[in-house]
Amino acid sequence: MKIRNSVAIVTGANRGLGKQFVAQLLERGAGRVYAAARRPEFIDLPGVDTLRLDVTDQQQVAEAARAVGQADIVINNAGFSSFARLVDGELSDIRREIEVNYFGALQMVRAFAPGMRNRGRGAFLNVSSVMAWLGFEHSNSYGASKAANWAMSNGLREELAGTGIQVSSLLLGSTDTDMMARIDVPKNPPDKLVAVALDQFEDGVNEILADDAAKTLKAELSVDRGRFVE
Ligand SMILES: NC(=O)c1ccc[n+]([C@@H]2O[C@H](COP(=O)([O-])OP(=O)(O)OC[C@H]3O[C@@H](n4cnc5c(N)ncnc54)[C@H](OP(=O)(O)O)[C@@H]3O)[C@@H](O)[C@H]2O)c1
Repeated sequence: MKIRNSVAIVTGANRGLGKQFVAQLLERGAGRVYAAARRPEFIDLPGVDTLRLDVTDQQQVAEAARAVGQADIVINNAGFSSFARLVDGELSDIRREIEVNYFGALQMVRAFAPGMRNRGRGAFLNVSSVMAWLGFEHSNSYGASKAANWAMSNGLREELAGTGIQVSSLLLGSTDTDMMARIDVPKNPPDKLVAVALDQFEDGVNEILADDAAKTLKAELSVDRGRFVE
């Protein structure tokens, strides 16, 4: 999907990767960019239309779809990580990750896909994570929600085949945003990550492996995980 002259909406656009997506869509010549956030008053980028949008709120999602009208590009960026452990973390945190990272993105797809289908063109960029493919001490419930997001993209691609709608899934590892502030690991700069993602999105890549972690972990999916040893 070409960005120049397109109409795009980005969720979670007030900070982190979402803010970068908005800035770079504008740089690439998008005709109109809707920056959607739970608190749009904190969006400080010039040249955008702002929308109040909590992706877990079905009514707000429907209102956003009405306000935007014909969207060419929907970037499902909004995300939440509670760092809850699967075995003994708060279940409400684990549910919230699924609500935001899976149902939130799915509600956006269900609200915007019909208009795209009618026009025979459109594209979704669904932000998943390498945590969909990885067990790691503090992010496993988040990983389960991102695996659901990844599977959603795979399924949507099948359901929307032949309609002119692109469904791209973005897989990325550690990136330097608020989400990762408390985790002491090497992090990629968000501007570089988003530039790689949008290059591949414009090239129509279905599964965007935006950094080395994504490429390595995808390749390792076929590795034998051994056997349980008591
Ligand atoms: N940073 C990484 O290392 C990394 C790696 C892999 C994937 N990702 C994914 O990349 C995306 C962007 O993350 P980030 O790193 O930029 O994180 P971030 O700095 O924590 O930003 C998260 C964004 O999502 C928004 N959000 C959270 N819940 C929402 C809801 N219910 N409705 C609407 N917006 C909501 C936040 O809004 P508020 O300001 O209102 O909270 C914020 O704008 C997420 O999907 C994340 O899971 C990040």
